[in-house]
Amino acid sequence: MVGIKLKSFSYLNNNIDLAMNEENNTKLLGAQAHIWNQIFNFINSMCLKCAVELGIPDIINNHGKPMTISQLTLALPINKNKFHCLYRLMRLLTHSGFFALEKVEIEGEKEEEGYVITEASKLLLKDNPMSVTPFLLLVLNPILTKSFDVLDTWFQNDSPTPFDTANGRTFWDYGSHEPKLAQLFNDGMASDARLVTSVVIEKCKGVFEGVERLVDVGGGTGTVAKSIATAFPQIKCSVLDLPHVVADLEDENNLKFIGGDMFVEVPTADVVLLKWILHDWNDEESVKILKNCREAIYKSKKKSGKLIIIDMNIKNDNNENSFETQLFFDMLMMALVNGRERNEKEWSKLFKDAGFSRYKITPILGLRSVIEN
Ligand SMILES: C[S@@+](CC[C@H](N)C(=O)[O-])C[C@H]1O[C@@H](n2cnc3c(N)ncnc32)[C@H](O)[C@@H]1O
Repeated sequence: MVGIKLKSFSYLNNNIDLAMNEENNTKLLGAQAHIWNQIFNFINSMCLKCAVELGIPDIINNHGKPMTISQLTLALPINKNKFHCLYRLMRLLTHSGFFALEKVEIEGEKEEEGYVITEASKLLLKDNPMSVTPFLLLVLNPILTKSFDVLDTWFQNDSPTPFDTANGRTFWDYGSHEPKLAQLFNDGMASDARLVTSVVIEKCKGVFEGVERLVDVGGGTGTVAKSIATAFPQIKCSVLDLPHVVADLEDENNLKFIGGDMFVEVPTADVVLLKWILHDWNDEESVKILKNCREAIYKSKKKSGKLIIIDMNIKNDNNENSFETQLFFDMLMMALVNGRERNEKEWSKLFKDAGFSRYKITPILGLRSVIEN
């Protein structure tokens, strides 16, 4: 959430004006409110996490009609004496758009208000195949949030990432040895992949016409490739990911899993997909991946071959919330994996350095874009 916009107070650097006049007081209180709002941003995320962990969106949804605070208290596995605290949690989450209040009439009693879910909390329901809950539980897990606690230490040391400073090893190394993080990560990626793929298949059908072989590089447990393989049975799809990620996954009809390293080689294909890959890596590493993708397309000998990237194109187009969320993602990539989100100028340089002569950015995925080469 974006706080109050503040004017530049550069003159304060040299001369802190402590004169107590009305204009100054207003400015000071505005500044204090802005700082408080920023300090408390974490309370928004932690309260949302609490609601998800207690199963509140599902319980309200399953109730089938507006649910009063007393009904919600009874239905939740909580200490019933904390009734008033639950009301305060729900008040904040209603304010932030995760629940809404509607009138309910309880038989023989006076009219009361009850909670209903909203578009945002629909996306947190357990049975929603596009649920964002696994992503929320990943990003707000202390294994990841610890990285932000040591940000200042990291700025002063030689460690490659704040994640490394906090956990003593890289994100990828931790994921390959700790099944808990691997599970959280794969579930978080798969839930996002379901949402994105449904949009891509609907809006970019043309991209898949005439395609013979497609490889999803860093395709994880194959959610995207599985949907493409089902929607386009004529395409031979494969998923390239690290050996430990694909070790237990079974090939299906037109879908195959390949354990390998995208920095070494990308399997030959006329369409190469990179979803949420390049933002994990710095420019030098990204150029290496892009060159291997170009080689894989070249080897397919198909003129229509192409690279499809799904990632963010950072842009401040007057939607403060979207821009801020893109900046949050950029900080997350910096903290976890030494990656980055890029703006068009940065994308353009990357493509040029990797030998691609053209690119097209289509912003059809909310905060992310489909970038074709
Ligand atoms: C951010 S995830 C994206 C997963 C998937 N593309 C998606 O969007 O749902 C990055 C993926 O890259 C994989 N990866 C990391 N290093 C790799 C490498 N050297 N070669 C192949 N895959 C790699 C990870 O295992 C992970 O599945």
